[in-house]
Amino acid sequence: MGIDVKSTTSASAEHGAARENKDLLRFLTCGSVDDGKSTLIGRLLFDTKLIFEDQLAGIKRDSRTYGTTGEDIDLALLVDGLRAEREQGITIDVAYRFFTTEKRKFIVADTPGHEQYTRNMATGASNSDLAVILIDARKGILPQTRRHSFIVSLLGIRHVVLAINKIDLVDYSQQVFDSIVTSYRDFARDLGFQTQDAIPLSARYGDNVVARSPNISWYVGPTLVEHLEEVDVSENLAEMPFRMQVQWVNRPNLDFRGFSGTVASGAISPGDELVVAASGQRSSVRSILTYDGELQRAIAGEAVTLTLDCEIDVSRGDVLCPPTLRPEVADQFQARLIWMSEQELIPGRRLLIKIGTKTVSAAVTNIRYKIDVNTFARLAARTLQLNEVAVVHIATSELVTYEPYLANRSMGAFIVIDRVTNQTLAAGMIDHGLWRASSVHWQAITVSKETRAEIKGQRPAVLWFTGLSGAGKSTIANLVEKKLLALGHHTYLLDGDNVRHGLNKDLGFTDADRVENIRRVSEVAKLMVDAGIITLVSFISPFRAERQFARELVAEEEFVEIYVSAPPSVAEERDPKGLYAKARRGELKNFTGIDSPYESPENPDLVLDTTTRSAEDLAEDVVRFILDRIKCA
Ligand code: ADX
Repeated sequence: MGIDVKSTTSASAEHGAARENKDLLRFLTCGSVDDGKSTLIGRLLFDTKLIFEDQLAGIKRDSRTYGTTGEDIDLALLVDGLRAEREQGITIDVAYRFFTTEKRKFIVADTPGHEQYTRNMATGASNSDLAVILIDARKGILPQTRRHSFIVSLLGIRHVVLAINKIDLVDYSQQVFDSIVTSYRDFARDLGFQTQDAIPLSARYGDNVVARSPNISWYVGPTLVEHLEEVDVSENLAEMPFRMQVQWVNRPNLDFRGFSGTVASGAISPGDELVVAASGQRSSVRSILTYDGELQRAIAGEAVTLTLDCEIDVSRGDVLCPPTLRPEVADQFQARLIWMSEQELIPGRRLLIKIGTKTVSAAVTNIRYKIDVNTFARLAARTLQLNEVAVVHIATSELVTYEPYLANRSMGAFIVIDRVTNQTLAAGMIDHGLWRASSVHWQAITVSKETRAEIKGQRPAVLWFTGLSGAGKSTIANLVEKKLLALGHHTYLLDGDNVRHGLNKDLGFTDADRVENIRRVSEVAKLMVDAGIITLVSFISPFRAERQFARELVAEEEFVEIYVSAPPSVAEERDPKGLYAKARRGELKNFTGIDSPYESPENPDLVLDTTTRSAEDLAEDVVRFILDRIKCA
């Protein structure tokens, strides 16, 4: 084996490697805690002579302190770089390592095996072409083997290698090997892998990793490294239709306008016709620029700046494609999600979705089913928890250009982001658009919101009262409505208790039901505003995200958030309906302020302190505040 030592363990190496060498194999390793993953990677680096003398000395020293191999060198310590990790004995983050042989360059994503770290595994898998699935020959196929294989297939990896490790501990038995291979084949039949090879090896002693094992004469296939050098994982991206998502509109001066991005698939040359997928605007390529000069042809994987023949409207996130071979455009689709957050997924809640460089507001409208990753059974679900996988429907607030993930990974993958914390909540893969997205259209209506409001001599608004049960929302909202009516305004009061007797009578008080409760009443408030009415909404509405959603449905000046504030102890003491007492006795579950949260407003338009002033005075304040806003100018 020829060795070209050029090693780094940082993820940034990935970028450089991709640019300078086309024959690069990205793979990930997965297995459960004791399968020997780190030892295998250590062995790969060690036997391809990628360990330097000083590192070796360090490992020898650490082997005595932390190792699990007695006086031998513990190769796992080479890759388990973090001290904290060594002390815990588990790997907790994705680490990318770069090594080369004469035939190929490799980037290996070392992903953790501990069951709760599915999230990291998905991160490592999302840009890998192949997965090495480690199996301990003594244990055979474990639930984690199934889970990891399923996620690998979900993320579109089409090539797997079963590294049946610790074969020395089962006396190099062909029978054990064969039976593991057979049961894996049965299990993985529907996972869509194109290649699925199995190799008996011992990472600890180096059998069949780089060097052929003298102990396994019955095995005639390649060693792991030989296999990784030869396996064909090409997706022929360059032969697929041209797609480029614009990452940046490059406009240094008035004379130059270029669109920068990485070619996701296909190829492009000057003179080729292009359209913007979402708008259909058309132009053709004038030139293809790169850091190293002008190109006559750019193919998948290359970062370029395109200049076009005529000015068209293109912005960040738009997808450029040929006029005759366009990707799909939709605002509702079916997708698979791997939920990666401790915070549960609640259908209806507003989220952000980032697909390529485009970020849009979206919500999961429906969980069709979740999938038990051990049995593949489909289970009903109202919410999703950490590490759960589900098929869902998603609606976005604007059109998204995409392709089914299985046809084009880079055009069909997205992540789900929390609007408030900006954290990644899930990885998603688009299956297909939903028919209703293309068959339901807006109907033009002649009479406008403005006309409807004008005839009433007012401007419509939403007065959104939020606060704990017993804070005084309904009392004040009721007085405000009476006063507005007396002044000749057209109003309507939506009160939680009342709406829950009709429109929302199917909803209870779980977080998911409250999200849906508020989503519906927000939509109703929006319709009321459209009808020209001053709409009062009096709901606990305990979550910031949903109040924000309600606000975004109407124009900025039309929404007034009114925080009816009373300390929880005061609200509980008032207990107008005896519900706090009931909740304290344990007869009422999920009661706000007791065993269900209330997120107080951060920037309300008005705060009403009901402990210091009368409801009558506070109502007067509200009326004064809103008359300024809603009077016809
Ligand atoms: S919200 O949280 O979904 O906005 P909403 O305002 O519709 O709640 O309904 C709250 C009313 O339902 C309260 O005024 C109270 O009378 C009643 N209620 C019954 N059970 C609960 C509960 N578990 N938590 C809060 N309110 C409850």
